[in-house]
Amino acid sequence: MKKGFTLWFTGMSGSGKSTLAELVEKELLERGLNVEILDGDVIRTNLSKGLGFSQEDRDINIRRVGFVCNLLTRNGAIAIAACISPYKAIRDENRAMIGRFVEVYCQAPIEKLIERDPKGLYKKALAGEIKGFTGIDDPYEEPEKAEIVVNTAEETIEESVQKILRTLELMGHIDASDAQTEYSEEEEEEIKKRLADLGYI
Ligand code: ADX
Repeated sequence: MKKGFTLWFTGMSGSGKSTLAELVEKELLERGLNVEILDGDVIRTNLSKGLGFSQEDRDINIRRVGFVCNLLTRNGAIAIAACISPYKAIRDENRAMIGRFVEVYCQAPIEKLIERDPKGLYKKALAGEIKGFTGIDDPYEEPEKAEIVVNTAEETIEESVQKILRTLELMGHIDASDAQTEYSEEEEEEIKKRLADLGYI
């Protein structure tokens, strides 16, 4: 059986987690792999329905998502989580439980997120209409050892997707593809350096 793994997207609202998760899923499906996405907005309408955004509720939410990712991963599937997951300790707890865990930090300056604001939530948070909004008046703890960092304010979506897929290939989680990719040597070096610094290669 093919070994599964969890691809864990973390980052603030509007940082590109869901968009990238869907595009990576599409690529993996085209390669014939089994993939399941656990998206925060969706999870909160079923598995975590009724939970709010206190630290306690967010921790419960992220532990639940981690639990499901673990079930999928140990059954050979690829679990893709796309939740803000603002607290490092709980992300690391999931990492330790799941083992085959690849963290993708979707990074973008807060000014950019406020400018994008596709759901209009930052505007509400800044007006004080939503309390405890991540990045405004609630914490986001950056990952220190994410396997992948995508800067969605500077890279194109396609560049970020390629960076994620190439990292998964280099880590041995997926087979290298024959598909032609728009990939520079500089980008390849950047990925290899990160993986070497983390002790993977
Ligand atoms: S998490 O903190 O528990 O990981 P999750 O990813 O499930 O969060 O849900 C985040 C989504 O909930 C955001 O994209 C946004 O649409 C919505 N949301 C509503 N209230 C808040 C809030 N106070 N902070 C962050 N996101 C919020």
